[in-house]
Amino acid sequence: MKIFLDTADIEEIRIAARWGVLDGVTTNPSLYAKVGGSYEGILREICKITSGPVSAEVVAEDVEGMLREGRAFAKLARNIVVKVPMSEEGLEAISRFAEEGIKTNCTLIFSSNQGLLAAKAGASLISPFIGRLDDINQDGMIVIRELVEMFELHDIDAEILTASVRNPLHVSQAALAGSHIATLPFKVLQQMIHHPLTDKGIVTFRQDWEKARAAAAAKGGTDGAAPGQIVQPGSGAQPAKGTAGGSARAGSRSRPAAGS
Ligand code: E4P
Repeated sequence: MKIFLDTADIEEIRIAARWGVLDGVTTNPSLYAKVGGSYEGILREICKITSGPVSAEVVAEDVEGMLREGRAFAKLARNIVVKVPMSEEGLEAISRFAEEGIKTNCTLIFSSNQGLLAAKAGASLISPFIGRLDDINQDGMIVIRELVEMFELHDIDAEILTASVRNPLHVSQAALAGSHIATLPFKVLQQMIHHPLTDKGIVTFRQDWEKARAAAAAKGGTDGAAPGQIVQPGSGAQPAKGTAGGSARAGSRSRPAAGS
């Protein structure tokens, strides 16, 4: 399953890209309102960071307005996908964009029938909002499962993009249901990385390493060095600054040099 970031925050997008897990980005007017500035400028910047699809949402509610806004977005970069809300006008705009070769993401999908119509009109991404359904005591994941089954049964090419994700459980459930993509707030991406036992294990390994090296150094050997540190035989070297045994900032770690 592909992972998109659901944000207009450039720094969050840069970090996820550095982690090597970013397949695309979705934005919407509410996410844009959190960062402000020029929406077009932000979209251009995002498209420089990722070559994956970047959704830019129209705010017009009439067909001509949606077409005008969407065409302008599509000119910003080749990976822009125009995000259009599900509505009678939205379906018409999606169909017109498809004729023009402009890719669309149909947003605000709350039922599998809506998803089916959006795909039929020509949207390449279909965005069911699972968190907002959960919020009103309806199981959002049912819509994902139904759409996956419908698209498989009828060989529909559009991709299901699980949106309105609130927690890591939503992500694993979407992946197991066969969703093609999930778009996540940065916080959920961070929550997926961490596990209390992983974080505790990292600290314990570092502490044990430091204890063992300190003991070796106290014996006057050459083993006080951190992995990768070059030590002259008999020097009884102290670990260098910035290495596991050194005085680098709290929580920093080193790893053995390649081949060592
Ligand atoms: C993404 O495309 C959607 O706009 C977004 O996931 C909606 O999330 P929310 O329900 O948390 O606002």
